[in-house]
Amino acid sequence: MTASPTSIPRPHCESPLKGVRGQILTFKADPFLVNSPEDTYDYWEDGIVVIQDGMILAVGDHKTISEKYPGLHDVDTYTDCIIMPGFIDTHTHYVQSPMIGSCGDTLLEWLNRYTFPTESRFSDKAFADEVARIFFRQILSQGTTTANVFATTFAESVDALFEESERYNARTITGKVLQDRNLPEALRDRDAESSIMISEDLMRKWHRRGRQLYAIIPRFAPTSTNEQLRLAGKLYRDNMSDGVYLHTHLDEAESEIQWVKELFPDARNYTDVYRSFGLVDRMSVFAHCCIVSREEWQTLHDNDCGVAHCPSSNLFLGDGEFRFWEAKDPARPCHVGIGTDVGGGTNFSIPRQLNEAYKVAMLRSRSLDAMRSFYLATRGAAEVLHLEERIGSLRAGHEADLAVLDLKPTEFIGWRMQFAGNIFERLFILQTLATDNMNRATYVAGKKVYDRDREIPFMYAAGI
Ligand code: GUN
Ligand code: ZN
Repeated sequence: MTASPTSIPRPHCESPLKGVRGQILTFKADPFLVNSPEDTYDYWEDGIVVIQDGMILAVGDHKTISEKYPGLHDVDTYTDCIIMPGFIDTHTHYVQSPMIGSCGDTLLEWLNRYTFPTESRFSDKAFADEVARIFFRQILSQGTTTANVFATTFAESVDALFEESERYNARTITGKVLQDRNLPEALRDRDAESSIMISEDLMRKWHRRGRQLYAIIPRFAPTSTNEQLRLAGKLYRDNMSDGVYLHTHLDEAESEIQWVKELFPDARNYTDVYRSFGLVDRMSVFAHCCIVSREEWQTLHDNDCGVAHCPSSNLFLGDGEFRFWEAKDPARPCHVGIGTDVGGGTNFSIPRQLNEAYKVAMLRSRSLDAMRSFYLATRGAAEVLHLEERIGSLRAGHEADLAVLDLKPTEFIGWRMQFAGNIFERLFILQTLATDNMNRATYVAGKKVYDRDREIPFMYAAGI
């Protein structure tokens, strides 16, 4: 399908124009929910994105657009690449980068054995800075431009990630993790009240500073006292209308769900625990949702919540199987995005998560094609975060976050591509066969912060 260009606003004279030219794909509606999925995207074989002051000014067919912008001379042209909106990782833990790939165990043993000792080190700001730097290099090199990230208990871990994000001018969501019981003392909050005060201070410091957004993050129900969940709910309700998020884990594994039942015997189900503390609402993002009752799906739908599907983590930890057809039931659909869930997840790449998502679904004979999976990775994820008017699509007026995917990242994949019929067959090959080197370049707010072939691949927004 070839689409007509989006509206063509006039550039203002002062700031220079930048063009990014190549095959372009972007979504405009949810292919899970419409009868004619071919109407849910725009694709231009020879397209161009015009950028000014970090925002997209126009997108469309190169010939048509370039005639409208005679002053556009600075153009990066990519052959054998697909330009897409930057990927959005709806759930990950940067603080687990140092222990990714630790030989498995079931969720609760794995947390005790690897996760908690690693996260205990993040009161050391220098260590947090180092991990934040490495983490951003990983995600940007995979084409991810926004991530919804768990830090950990310590304010230092939050500052480190926001500071690095700010250097790239990236739109990042993170916050202090609230956890005041059932974990080692080194990582435990001193008490519920002080943990909320620290969160409030961090929220005031970071929320809406540049592109940064704050999330209130109780790790999961078992590691918070009732008092901490209650205070977290109050903080959330007081700040939700200003775009503050609630981010936590839900219904990941049987052993976890059993533990929640023991700790909260009066709740109807796991979702009801969060609901009873005022934590289930439109800015809430729940990671995993593998083992979810009908009643819980209905609650998540009724409250306009977001769900992060984290397939490589679910496979690695032997959790449950996410059922996209239940999450996207047209009678009560939920917003769904993809999460790497590092370090339960085994890599930082969203397309590689799509590879795993396909296989998880096929265990139940449900096929997840590339049109729907790349929607989940971009616009679908933006809808999870209620940011679809800013990121997740290539449209005039949106922030210019772009991934440039290499259609020939290896000799074999390049050769295999000649047998693909259309853009989605090409993308499916890429997600299924490609490794970490498939992303050619990444633009954040219009700046090329990553270029695989540049002498210095990573560059902060200010050009340092
Ligand atoms: N549930 C509570 N904490 C965690 C975590 O760090 N990773 C995963 N996968 N699940 C969790
Ligand atoms: Zn997680």
